[in-house]
Amino acid sequence: MSNYHIKHLEEYFQVYRKSVRNPENFWEEIAEEHFLWRKKWDTVLSWDFKKPEVKWFEGAKLNITENCLDRHLATRGDKTAILFEPNDPKEDTQHITYTQLYQRVNKFANVLKSQGVEKGDRVCIYLPMIPELAVSLLACARIGAIHSVVFAGFSANALATRINDSDCKVVITSDGSYRGAKTIDLKKIVDDALEDCPGVKTVLVAKRIQSEINMKDGRDQWLQPLLDEASEEGTATVMDAEDPLFILYTSGSTGTPKGMVHTIAGYMIYTAYTFKNVFQYRENDVYWCTADIGWITGHSYIVYGPLANGATTVMFEGVPSYPDYGRFWDIVEKHKVTQFYTAPTAIRALAKEGVEHVEQHDLSSLKVLGTVGEPINEEAWHWYDDNIGKKNAPIVDTWWQTETGGIMITPIPYATPTKPTYATLPFIGIQPALMDENAQEIKGNQADGRLCIKFPWPGMARTIWGNHQRYKDTYFSAYENMYFSGDGALRDEVGYYRITGRVDDVIIVSGHNLGTAPIEDAVNEHPAVAESAIVGFPHDVKGNALYGYVILKETGESRKHDNLRKEINQIITEQIGPIAKLDKIQFTNGLPKTRSGKIMRRILRKIAGKDTSNLGDTSTLLNPECVQDIIDNAL
Ligand code: WTA
Repeated sequence: MSNYHIKHLEEYFQVYRKSVRNPENFWEEIAEEHFLWRKKWDTVLSWDFKKPEVKWFEGAKLNITENCLDRHLATRGDKTAILFEPNDPKEDTQHITYTQLYQRVNKFANVLKSQGVEKGDRVCIYLPMIPELAVSLLACARIGAIHSVVFAGFSANALATRINDSDCKVVITSDGSYRGAKTIDLKKIVDDALEDCPGVKTVLVAKRIQSEINMKDGRDQWLQPLLDEASEEGTATVMDAEDPLFILYTSGSTGTPKGMVHTIAGYMIYTAYTFKNVFQYRENDVYWCTADIGWITGHSYIVYGPLANGATTVMFEGVPSYPDYGRFWDIVEKHKVTQFYTAPTAIRALAKEGVEHVEQHDLSSLKVLGTVGEPINEEAWHWYDDNIGKKNAPIVDTWWQTETGGIMITPIPYATPTKPTYATLPFIGIQPALMDENAQEIKGNQADGRLCIKFPWPGMARTIWGNHQRYKDTYFSAYENMYFSGDGALRDEVGYYRITGRVDDVIIVSGHNLGTAPIEDAVNEHPAVAESAIVGFPHDVKGNALYGYVILKETGESRKHDNLRKEINQIITEQIGPIAKLDKIQFTNGLPKTRSGKIMRRILRKIAGKDTSNLGDTSTLLNPECVQDIIDNAL
C-alpha cells in the first residue's frame, strides 16, 4: 500500500471531513486501491444499530492471507515479514521472509486440513510468542477456519471455558514456554483444561522447551513431523467479506467472557489502514509492538495490520526484565526499530529501574512511539518522551478496544500536536460522541461524558459468539443508535479527547481487562468465604491493582488471615490466572449495600484508594454502619 500517508494537521482535517461526509465512498476508495479481491462487493455498507447489524463490503469475496502474503511475494519475497526475537538473547534471531512465511502458512494450513478442520470450524490457539503462533492464525484464515486465541497466561479453567463457549474441536499448543528465567509447562495446563472439554478431538503440539510431556494417544500429536510432510503449496479458501475471521474473548462486567467476533474484509481494511497511518509505516521500517498476540493488540498490530502492509513486524518472546531491564532497548538498538508500541504499565515498570538501562543503548532509529491499553499518566508520558524518544519521536496514545478491532482515537504522528494524557483526535472515519447522564449527546468542547461512537466503522466486532442479545445489551442499549464503549472521556477546548477510564465494573490491571464478577466468583469458592467485593485502586506500576473485601462465614474464623489470603489468591490463579490476583484482601463483617441489595462499589473504591473525604450520601444504604468499620480497618 502506498500514497496514503497523512502528513500534516490540515491534511488530517481534510481527509477526516471527507471520511465522515461520505463514509461509504471513503472506505470504498481504500478497499479498491489497496487490497486484493476475488470478487468486488455489491454493497459497501448496510447498518442498523438497533438490531444491531453491520455489514461492510457484502458480496465481496477474498482471503485475508492473500492480502497478507501472496500479493507481497513478487515484490517483497525476500523481505523479512516476521523478525523473531527469542526470550534468551543468546539464541539467534530468526528472520522469516514473506516467501518463507507463505510456505509455512501453507504447510500449517495443509496440516489443519489433514486433521479434518474445515471452513467455519473453530480452532483454539494456546501458544507462547513463538513464530508458530502467528503462523497458526494465518493458517486458520487460509482455510476459513475461525481462530480463537487464548492468552497463554490464562489458567486451565479459563481456557476450558473459552474452548467450550466456541465449541473448538482442535487446540494448538506447545510443550511449554519461556518467560524470562522461568519455563512454564503449558501442555499440562491444556491437559487439565481438556478434562472439561469433551468436544476437543485433536491437540497439535509445537516443540519449544524440549521437555518431557504427556502425550495422550489418539488425541495429541507433535506438530513438526506433520509439518515436515505437508506441502508448501496451497490455495486459499475463498471467503465472504462478512464471514468470521476470529473470536477473541474479553472480560465483561458480569458473567462469562464475551467472545467478540470479527469478520474478514472490514477488519482487514481497518487494521491495515490504521497501521499505515498511525505508525507512518514506510517500506524499510522495522516495526515492533510488544503486546502478546493473545490480546487484540497483537492480532491487529503484530499480525494482520503489519502483514497487510508488507511490513517487517518484530515478535518478542520474552519479558522486559530479562536478562535485565535494558532488554527492550537492546532489541531496539539491535534491529534498528523505527516504530515502538507498548503499554503504559511497561513504561512505568521500566522508568522505575532508572535511565542507566536506557542510556547504554542507541535508540536513534526510533521515529514513532505508541501506547495502548490504559490511560497513560503524565509522568510516564514524559519519561517515555524524554528518555526513549528524546523529544524527537512523537507519542501516539491510541485508544481502542477488542470490540473496535483497531485504533479509534489517536494522534497522527508528525501531524497532530500531542498533549500528554490525551489520545487527541478521532481517527479517520470515526465519529465519537460524549453522552451525559440523561442520555443526551453533549455538543461542543470542554465536555465530560461517556464515550460512544455514532457511526459504524469497518473494524468493529459484529456480534458476541453465540449470544447476539448480549452484544446488543452491552453495546447498543445504553444510548439509542450509539455504540457505547464502557469508557468515560473528556473533550478539551480544542476537541482533544482524554480517556478517563472504565465506567463499568471492568478493571484494567497492567493493561489487561478484568471483570470483577468472575474474580468474586472465584473468591467465593473458598469454603470459608461468605461474600466478597472486588474493586480497583491506583497502583504506580500496574495502573490499577485489585482490592478485595471479604466476609468470612464464621466470624470466629480461627485460621490465620494471611493463610486465607494465600488460599484465596491460589483459587484465583487456578480459576482465572495470576494476573487476577488480589494485592490487598480486607476481611470485614459487612459490605455497604443499597436497599435493593446491590453492593455500593463506589464507596469501596474510594476506601481502597484512600480517599474517604467525600463518600457521598451513605444514609440511603441498607447498612450504613458498616462503612466506618471498613474505613477503620482499611489496608
Ligand atoms: C482501555 C486494548 C486510555 C479502555 C486495545 C478500553 C485505554 C480498554 C487506551 C480496552 C488508551 C485502551 N487510553 N484507556 N490509549 N487504550 N484503553 O479490549 O478502558 O484489551 O475500554 O483493548 O482499555 O481494552 P482491550
